[in-house]
Amino acid sequence: MVSLFGGKEIEGMKEMVSLKLTVPIFMLFLCLHICCGSTLTYVKDPVLTIKQEDSMLPMISPTGTPQPFLPLLAPSPLAPFTNATVPKLSGLCTLNFSVAESLMSVTSVDCWSVFAPLLANVICCPQLEATLTILLGQSSKETNVLALNGTVAKHCLSDIEQILVGQGANDSLAQICSVHSSNLTYASCPVIDVNEFEDTVDTSKLLAACEKIDPVKECCAQTCQNAILEAATRIASKASDLLSTDGAHDILPDGVSKVNDCKSIVLRWLASKLNPSHAKEVLRGLSNCKINKVCPLVFPNMKHVAMGCGNGISNQTACCTAMESYVSHLQKQSFITNLQALDCAASLGMKLRKSNITENVYSLCHISLKDFSLQVGNQVSGCLLPSLPSDATFDSSGVSFLCDLNDNIPAPWPTSSQGAGSSCSKNVKIPALPAAASAESGLYNDDVMLSLLLASGVVLMMIL
Ligand SMILES: *[C@@H]1O[C@H](CO)[C@@H](O)[C@H](O)[C@H]1NC(C)=O
Ligand SMILES: *[C@@H]1O[C@H](CO)[C@@H](O)[C@H](O)[C@H]1NC(C)=O
Ligand SMILES: *[C@@H]1O[C@H](CO)[C@@H](O)[C@H](O)[C@H]1NC(C)=O
Ligand SMILES: *[C@@H]1O[C@H](CO)[C@@H](O)[C@H](O)[C@H]1NC(C)=O
Ligand SMILES: *[C@@H]1O[C@H](CO)[C@@H](O)[C@H](O)[C@H]1NC(C)=O
Ligand SMILES: *[C@@H]1O[C@H](CO)[C@@H](O)[C@H](O)[C@H]1NC(C)=O
Ligand SMILES: *[C@@H]1O[C@H](CO)[C@@H](O)[C@H](O)[C@H]1NC(C)=O
Repeated sequence: MVSLFGGKEIEGMKEMVSLKLTVPIFMLFLCLHICCGSTLTYVKDPVLTIKQEDSMLPMISPTGTPQPFLPLLAPSPLAPFTNATVPKLSGLCTLNFSVAESLMSVTSVDCWSVFAPLLANVICCPQLEATLTILLGQSSKETNVLALNGTVAKHCLSDIEQILVGQGANDSLAQICSVHSSNLTYASCPVIDVNEFEDTVDTSKLLAACEKIDPVKECCAQTCQNAILEAATRIASKASDLLSTDGAHDILPDGVSKVNDCKSIVLRWLASKLNPSHAKEVLRGLSNCKINKVCPLVFPNMKHVAMGCGNGISNQTACCTAMESYVSHLQKQSFITNLQALDCAASLGMKLRKSNITENVYSLCHISLKDFSLQVGNQVSGCLLPSLPSDATFDSSGVSFLCDLNDNIPAPWPTSSQGAGSSCSKNVKIPALPAAASAESGLYNDDVMLSLLLASGVVLMMIL
């Protein structure tokens, strides 16, 4: 129903395609940025970049020939680019895509073809979810409802995928990000009518708490998150009224999932009250809080490490060989933020302790935080994303995103086999880490704060 792209965008898309056709090889530029400051605010927004293909690589990869970035990723055939055309839309989706046109372009780059699975957890899926929420919220201004019905939702999800894929996004995004058409519906939340919502919820309080969030403080203070939970609980409790008149609901979803479904409704309402780019900042800020609390890596069986390092570590070489081999498997999974690396170090440490490894094998084997991340180049540098990751960008040289190459911050060994106990009360000592990233005090001293911080833009080009 809505013509999405004017002639301008189509021209732009062709340009992008022809660029891809002329780019000769899949390669990497690392752009270095040296931060000498030590204040949080400074690093919160790492500034880039010097893009210089000849001088940069050798600095990162001083020995031997420069390795291509992520050798494990064979260049894809790039079929989507060569076929980039105006997407064929169903015509049955009621969303107005033009309100979120630029958000959708950003989403396509964040979820770019082969990178989508690697950036899924931290950048791609949060951006996709924010885009969906904003599309639904903005649409409610016309329709007065905060959800689509099942039929329309199917068409819309499919149309959105078509549009994104047309701009270079991976074609399995719904699967990668576990988005189903039901995520665009009311699911089990009983309130979707805007007027009813506004009658039920203390909207001025909600808006005051969420119209502006400090992405670092919010993770600890949870001002907006609490307001969302309160509003969601409020509308979820309306279920009982509805049920008394609706016998069709035999199986009730449990209260928790109902409140969760209602949280999506609350977010859509918020997204209808803010302009799209502002709403995006808020939504991504909220998802960052969630993301940074959890290590997204999957830990494979650790029996080799347990064998090599267990029972008092009789042979340090054997132990560290086993440890390095184990960590190298983790390094193939995905990009993670620096805070997630802390979570991962804690989780792995606790698992190791549970296998009777009581010595600090991180220190013994010189395991650092960046060892938990995908490696850039020839196992030289890990690429940890900043805890407030910025979107990937696309320019004439390809897709790029920022890494914090924090200089060898040692992985903290958990002091007990119990939970890490993240605390918001302690001061942040790692640049760019939100305060949730507490660690043992004294671990990150001023020397680390002042140590060289490399923020790199990883610029990728793809072979045709
Ligand atoms: C690209 O277009 C050609 C010709 O229309 C078609 O045969 C091919 O399947 C398309 N490829 C993709 C990935 O859509
Ligand atoms: C869609 O949104 C755009 C921009 O906000 C607006 O100009 C246009 O009228 C809307 N189209 C429809 C069909 O509502
Ligand atoms: C999309 O992601 C999947 C992983 O889920 C990957 O196997 C596939 O190669 C990607 N597609 C493209 C076109 O890069
Ligand atoms: C779903 O919504 C659309 C548009 O709002 C409407 O035309 C259609 O009848 C609805 N379908 C059902 C099953 O309610
Ligand atoms: C979509 O809904 C399913 C349950 O229906 C849920 O498990 C999943 O997390 C949701 N996805 C998103 C992106 O919210
Ligand atoms: C320690 O282990 C390494 C590698 O497994 C082996 O080569 C070496 O001989 C072992 N050293 C001792 C003292 O057992
Ligand atoms: C750890 O050591 C204890 C006592 O030595 C033993 O009972 C237990 O089976 C060991 N656990 C593992 C996972 O090896």
